[in-house]
Amino acid sequence: MARVFQLPVTTGRTAIAAPAVVGSTDRPRPGIAAGYLAPHPPHLIYAENPPQNEPRSTGGWEVLRWAYAELRRRLTRLRPDVLVVHAPHWITMVGHHVNCVPNPRGVSVEPIFPHLFRYHYNMTTDVELAETIADCAAEAGLVTSKLREPGVRVDYATIGALHLANPSWDIPVVSLSANNNPYFYAEAALDEMEVLGAATRRAIETTGRRAVLLASNSLSHLHWDVEADLPEDMSREHPFSHHQYQWDIRLLDLVRTGPTRAVADFVPQHIAQTASETKAGSLTWLLAALDWPAIPGDVLGYGTIIGTGNAVVEWVPEEFSDV
Ligand SMILES: [Fe+2]
Repeated sequence: MARVFQLPVTTGRTAIAAPAVVGSTDRPRPGIAAGYLAPHPPHLIYAENPPQNEPRSTGGWEVLRWAYAELRRRLTRLRPDVLVVHAPHWITMVGHHVNCVPNPRGVSVEPIFPHLFRYHYNMTTDVELAETIADCAAEAGLVTSKLREPGVRVDYATIGALHLANPSWDIPVVSLSANNNPYFYAEAALDEMEVLGAATRRAIETTGRRAVLLASNSLSHLHWDVEADLPEDMSREHPFSHHQYQWDIRLLDLVRTGPTRAVADFVPQHIAQTASETKAGSLTWLLAALDWPAIPGDVLGYGTIIGTGNAVVEWVPEEFSDV
């Protein structure tokens, strides 16, 4: 089968030393301060009615939006230098790409829900970190590419997670693509995302950044194919099936008890049972970047969107738990 690797990959589980405290006490400690599962369905931004999005709504999906409100409160305390996002709808067929365009801007339209999401974006990239992530991933054996075309439209999964975490866009970002191999080759494993996660961690340590990571994935992913006349009619919103709901809750029970390695080991089963969007690898990348801490995750909220399961979850490494 086709391979996305140039070299035999190293394990993504190599222990990496905790980041040192550097400089004065005024400078926040570098490293990965937190990671979030941060789902991106366009309905959440549509329901928020931000000025960047053209369509208007009467609300909806409040429980998940309240979970994001709590994420934003916590992010303010964490004071990151940069948000790093891995998103499943920037699909690259060969390798893993990193957006190195200094100031991507334009209009992003969700192709299935253009009546919900026509978003005007203007983002600042942390180019040094973006390039270092690409370099570290290449050193680990991954095919990588540094995107430098300013006109390439940013996908709605990248924008969705970044907007909902930080709608003021006053924190620089790094955006990673999702290699699409897992959707074509059954044997292509999520192990590959562990390599990318470890490389992301190395790059953050190398550049001395204080980063927060966003895995832009929904959970169970079978959904309705007929929309209500009013998209935000919550009387129509519920899990696609009891089966999907049960498997999502099984996953979240593991999240709430930890350790993170057990969560990742359960992900393939969860994908097989629910067509989970975690197949794109964002969640596995996130947990690998955190270096598999033996901690529980904090489930800030769970809810369905057109029947799919979505959870906002926080993991804070012990060395940052005093923030
Ligand atoms: Fe999606």
